[in-house]
Amino acid sequence: MSTIKPKSSIATMVSYTPNHGGAKKPGKVIRLSANEGALGMSPKALAAMHSVDPDLHRYPAVAASRLAEAVGRRNGIDPARIVFGCGSDELIQVLCLAYLEPGDEAIYTQYGFLVYPMATRIAGGVPVVAPDDEYTVSVDAILKAVTERTRMVFLANPNNPTGTYIPQEEVKRLRAGLRDDILLVLDAAYCEYVTKNDYDSGIEMVENHDNVVMLRTFSKLYGMAGLRLGWAYGPKDIAATLESIKQPFGVNSLAIAAGIAAVEDLAFQEAVIESNNKWLPWSAGKFAELGLEALPTVTNFLLLRFPETDGKTAEAARLFLAERNILVREMGGYGVPDTVRLSIGTGEEMREVVDALADFLGKERPVS
Ligand SMILES: Cc1ncc(COP(=O)(O)O)c(C=O)c1O
Repeated sequence: MSTIKPKSSIATMVSYTPNHGGAKKPGKVIRLSANEGALGMSPKALAAMHSVDPDLHRYPAVAASRLAEAVGRRNGIDPARIVFGCGSDELIQVLCLAYLEPGDEAIYTQYGFLVYPMATRIAGGVPVVAPDDEYTVSVDAILKAVTERTRMVFLANPNNPTGTYIPQEEVKRLRAGLRDDILLVLDAAYCEYVTKNDYDSGIEMVENHDNVVMLRTFSKLYGMAGLRLGWAYGPKDIAATLESIKQPFGVNSLAIAAGIAAVEDLAFQEAVIESNNKWLPWSAGKFAELGLEALPTVTNFLLLRFPETDGKTAEAARLFLAERNILVREMGGYGVPDTVRLSIGTGEEMREVVDALADFLGKERPVS
């Protein structure tokens, strides 16, 4: 074993372990384990990537200004304050590296995205958990967890894996309760799916405050998870800091070309949302008919609870589904082992899942 040891903060870090494999046989796989966009990528984004070919021997643009302009136009925000990363995962890490001194605390929520504590530890910081209230983020619990060492608060809104959200008024109350030297990171990875009037992705908060950053991703609505593209929107000085320490060429040329086309393809975005708005309630309804409770979700995935009965547990269901090449995410790592998380796929995929779960439970298949 090498005598060179990594930082002690990393020794106790739990690494993020995705669950993207596990299909039991060759052939078609229904992959609902990673909250990717059900309809894939805009055909215009695919065409844009093909058109990049002659330039692939060149390094990509460092500042991706055409992409920033496109994203800025689409969201009505200042392109100069947008920073792109190799997925929002990279930006979470870069934020921690930039703003946490060793021993500084970063608060994340009980069922929050596991990359937050991991990135905190990599930076030498200390992750602090704020308990949820009924699987929903509790602003009071976050405020209670603040100490004089707190430097960052991570809030995924809506949250992964619960799928629940808190209204904008609550986010405002959270920020108002934080000291000015605490950075509030609003991770709005799933914001485009939310149809609630009292929700805001965080743009308004960034516009009005110096200690708020919003994170967004092309992995969900835009169906570009494999291309790795995310962005942060924040105050000018924070954007400049992130830009200065992230990998210079971390965002590749294909992602930039596809990102510009995808963000401008409004018809495709509407089709994705329409599909989700149809198949999410349909699936939740069918699961309910089978006696399976889903948490109320505003996203493109849901958390489904299984009984403790031997042979009918969440883990048994996950293995049963895997035998049929249907992949869903186990939730032990998130502390909810009696559930599985599954993305909302296409109508055909959801019909297959419902039928498979009926078979698993030994119940009649619901009529579609
Ligand atoms: C809340 C949340 N933030 C960030 C990410 C990471 O997104 P990206 O693919 O842009 O790294 C995910 C992915 O599942 C997520 O659920």
